Amino acid sequence: MTADLLRAPLLPPGRPRLVVTGFMGTGKTHAGRRAGAILGMPFVDLDDVVARRSGTSIEELIRSQGEPAFRRLERRAILDAARLSGTVVATGGGAVLQGEAFGVLGRGSVTAVLSGDPGELVRRVGDGSSRPLLEGRPSQRIAELLEERGSAYAAAGRRVETDGRSVEEVASELVDLYREAGADGPEDGVEIDIRRADFASRIVVGDGALASLGARLEALVPEATSAVIMLDRAVERSIGPVLETSIKEAGMATSVVPIEGGEPAKTIDVVASFWERFREGGIDRDAVVVAVGGGAVLDVAGFAAATYARGLDLVNVPTTLLAMVDAGIGGKVAIDHAGTKNLVGAFHHPRMTVMDPGVLRSLPPPLVRFGLAEAIKAAVVGSPLVVDVLERADLDENGLPQDLGWIVEQSVRIKAAFVAEDPRDHSVRKALNLGHTFAHAIEAGTGYRIPHGAAVAIGLVAAARLGTESGITPEGTAERLSRLLSRFALPTALPGGLSPDDLLGAMRGDKKRSGGRPVFVVPDPDGARLLRNVDARRAAETLLALEVSSHA
Ligand SMILES: NC(=O)c1ccc[n+]([C@@H]2O[C@H](COP(=O)([O-])OP(=O)(O)OC[C@H]3O[C@@H](n4cnc5c(N)ncnc54)[C@H](O)[C@@H]3O)[C@@H](O)[C@H]2O)c1
Repeated sequence: MTADLLRAPLLPPGRPRLVVTGFMGTGKTHAGRRAGAILGMPFVDLDDVVARRSGTSIEELIRSQGEPAFRRLERRAILDAARLSGTVVATGGGAVLQGEAFGVLGRGSVTAVLSGDPGELVRRVGDGSSRPLLEGRPSQRIAELLEERGSAYAAAGRRVETDGRSVEEVASELVDLYREAGADGPEDGVEIDIRRADFASRIVVGDGALASLGARLEALVPEATSAVIMLDRAVERSIGPVLETSIKEAGMATSVVPIEGGEPAKTIDVVASFWERFREGGIDRDAVVVAVGGGAVLDVAGFAAATYARGLDLVNVPTTLLAMVDAGIGGKVAIDHAGTKNLVGAFHHPRMTVMDPGVLRSLPPPLVRFGLAEAIKAAVVGSPLVVDVLERADLDENGLPQDLGWIVEQSVRIKAAFVAEDPRDHSVRKALNLGHTFAHAIEAGTGYRIPHGAAVAIGLVAAARLGTESGITPEGTAERLSRLLSRFALPTALPGGLSPDDLLGAMRGDKKRSGGRPVFVVPDPDGARLLRNVDARRAAETLLALEVSSHA
């Protein structure tokens, strides 16, 4: 069995982070958490991340394994935090000494350094008995450490005084710092770019992004004189008018083609009907196709755009969570044929993808769940702290995360990074197939009774288990994923009554096989690994052995 590493690429920037650092006892955690609440951004405490990853407290970790072991874990946590955007990150007091890693975190961040009078710090940390770095005489150690770290703190960011101030006052200064830097972003959305020699694609995420579509189109595709808006009927009334007005105001002629969304739209007959509409409407290569809807509409409209007149410019406006985090980015367009999903297709990269997470308010909760399964997959291979945030995210009345916008932003950045590095899915982009060999087998083996998103959820757990059995994925990953997925009422094991033979045919017939054997992507601390030559029966048994998580 071989296991090629699919290393997660650097992620493109999104909204800046707010990094809160400073000496122990300055109140980074309290002020950072409060600032996050005011800004509406998630909060991540890196000491807490290290403690959870080591399975013990920081104090115990340093006492039992020494400071270097703690610093190694801390370095990893800092680099993982640098993969997040639009997040408040509180660091440990000594993080500034992690020169290169701290520098990576600082890029794309507004950094605040909380400071306090040494006498006051001594009072706050008490006798230092719970802080191994202060063992001996705390006041003397504090003076020494402040001396040692002084220049690193001074260079790290803006100093924020904490003496005599409440958490609320410090948090409000942090918020001001972030806003003054213009970091809470343009109102019409954050731009994430895929730039390559052969194509460029811009992704815009944010409330209000849809109204800016016309102006953005004019700037990005100035040669376009008309637009065909291919509109999923599910959002015809909610966002059709704002898109049409925006494009018209940019001086372009518009026509609208309403489409009944969902999988039945992905046929050659529907595509042929679009070709006919284009012909009758005199559409030529000065026109741009604006595909608006769920993944099915983006696929079928995108395929029509890719094939008509040897390719019309394409703009995507995804309106389901799955379409935002996956189908709307990456250039794959396909229709179904002869009972096989996505059998006929092309690579046709959109010039632009514009999305407003507010549109998801009308999406039925099961569809949000299925999109979440793909977002969690992207997190596992591209930005592991997204998993930590989701484990603690506030939920709405349907048991789903309240802040889908943040999740969309992270997922888009991850997918954009993989696509930029490997647009045609020959190498690292395969990491995004995590869980999918299992998912396809589950769907086919159960006669498509289990929806794709649910199959992906089970597939993620199975992939983690297979990875651990193969000595790649850290112990406990499958259990952790299982708990997270069941937090969102996603399944984590197969229903009873299936045998390996029900799954084997589908696994052996998977499109993405190598040397007659299925290939599996499994989680790796640096991204993912591609397992070739896996015995399909063994993989099927791993899948069947999964148990329902106790979190449900
Ligand atoms: N091309 C790619 O890279 C890619 C990637 C992943 C998935 N896909 C494809 O995407 C499709 C699945 O996409 P999907 O999960 O978005 O489902 P979908 O497109 O089938 O849409 C599901 C339903 O939701 C409706 N809908 C769309 N937006 C809505 C909104 N805001 N509010 C309420 N209802 C809304 C649709 O009309 C449809 O009835 C599959 O065909 C899959 O093959 C493609």
